[in-house]
Amino acid sequence: MGTKNVNAIISEEQNDNSLPVLDGTLGPSAVDIQTLYSRNGLLAYDPGFRSTASCKSSITFVDGDKGILLYRGYPIEELAEHSEFIEVAYLLMHGELPSPGQRKQFDEAIGYYNLLHEQVLSFYRGFRRDAHPMAIMVGVVGALSAFYHDVMNIRDANDRELAAIRLIGKMPMIAAASYTYSVGRPQRYPNNKYDYASNFLQMMFGAPNREHIVDPVLARALDIILILHADHEQNASTSTVRLAASSGANPFACIAAGIASLWGPAHGGANEAVLKMLMEIGTVENISKVIERAKNKSDSFRLMGFGHRIYKNFDPRSLVIQKQAKKVLAHLGKEDPLLEIAMRLEEIALKDEYFIERKLYPNVDFYSGILLRAMGFPMNMFTAVFALARTAGWVSHWLELQGESHGIDRPRQLYVGKTLRHYTARK
Ligand code: ACO
Repeated sequence: MGTKNVNAIISEEQNDNSLPVLDGTLGPSAVDIQTLYSRNGLLAYDPGFRSTASCKSSITFVDGDKGILLYRGYPIEELAEHSEFIEVAYLLMHGELPSPGQRKQFDEAIGYYNLLHEQVLSFYRGFRRDAHPMAIMVGVVGALSAFYHDVMNIRDANDRELAAIRLIGKMPMIAAASYTYSVGRPQRYPNNKYDYASNFLQMMFGAPNREHIVDPVLARALDIILILHADHEQNASTSTVRLAASSGANPFACIAAGIASLWGPAHGGANEAVLKMLMEIGTVENISKVIERAKNKSDSFRLMGFGHRIYKNFDPRSLVIQKQAKKVLAHLGKEDPLLEIAMRLEEIALKDEYFIERKLYPNVDFYSGILLRAMGFPMNMFTAVFALARTAGWVSHWLELQGESHGIDRPRQLYVGKTLRHYTARK
């Protein structure tokens, strides 16, 4: 064990030891180190993947310094303004916006496959009624692999497309049922007279014994939330899906793995954690205490909804979400004291040297919890809504990966354990 340095100067000079540099269409170039071990006997060490491009991808581009997020080249702000989640899902999967005919076909396919097999509904009864919806979703989506395994050939493009459509189509009912089960309400079925977001709302908040009228302002706000959360290049959950999928695993099982990864508070679980934090703060007067705690290195507490591995300027999604939160609260004639605390907290943190130095800005989760709460979502459903949206991104990455030929993803390690020793029984 120990450290020594090797010459890692990047030079354009070509020699036996030089490694190719690959240019993308946007963003930093990447040194191709695939032959490093076979040529030099060295591995690259990058825990946390701060300097590692794990794959080539043409789906989503993020420039964290400039606060840019593009899906297939389109800025997130334009998609949030003009597009719809289902159109965005098509775009992520296929690379281009659908023509009217393609859109109609896609809508029909999503509508055809949005029901759950009745046997799947019986799975819910196996969970404690107070189980977290994300725990249920990991289980139920994983269980879908038992329903669509032998009938599916992932080498067949039509079968792959169908698996992706099934996942996007079924996810609203899977998420809604994980909530209605916990409150003991019978689950409504999807109804194709509704659009995607409205269908989810009616399954979440409606009951089978009455007509449910979906508020179009809330449906549009939810659709925008889904668009904003649909993809974010090689984040932890997407990388989990890709890693699981690289072995040729069943796509439903791969997406279940993605849901598990998303649940963590450092990732998708942050929207729930933000709201809990804002509730604990309680009043504007307590904000400075929380800021001090977040800055204290001997305290593990972090300001939830602040900071991002990639965004070191601002998260473009957080601006759209904040606007929507204000719009929905005004539409509903509600005031949420948590919005005031959040805005004040943001203002104070953004003027604080600690946050400025470390380039910590509000991320997408900082305001999304306030918006979802205003819409009536219980706190433990926030990450489930995120999972529903991110399914579009996960399946797109799964589809992209199937076209690659590099085989199973198998990282190496820097071994720091015991060297060879021989067995003698302990006395
Ligand atoms: N509050 C206080 N300090 C923070 C925060 C925060 N939220 N985030 C980062 N820091 C500090 C770290 O302590 C570290 O300080 P140091 O350099 O003095 O040691 C420095 O900023 C850099 O932090 P890292 O942990 O290296 O940043 P990383 O890129 O690994 O982490 C992460 C990003 C996980 C998002 C982090 O900022 C965090 O935990 N934020 C709160 C949780 C959150 O909001 N997650 C949602 C992310 S967005 C999403 O998944 C949709």
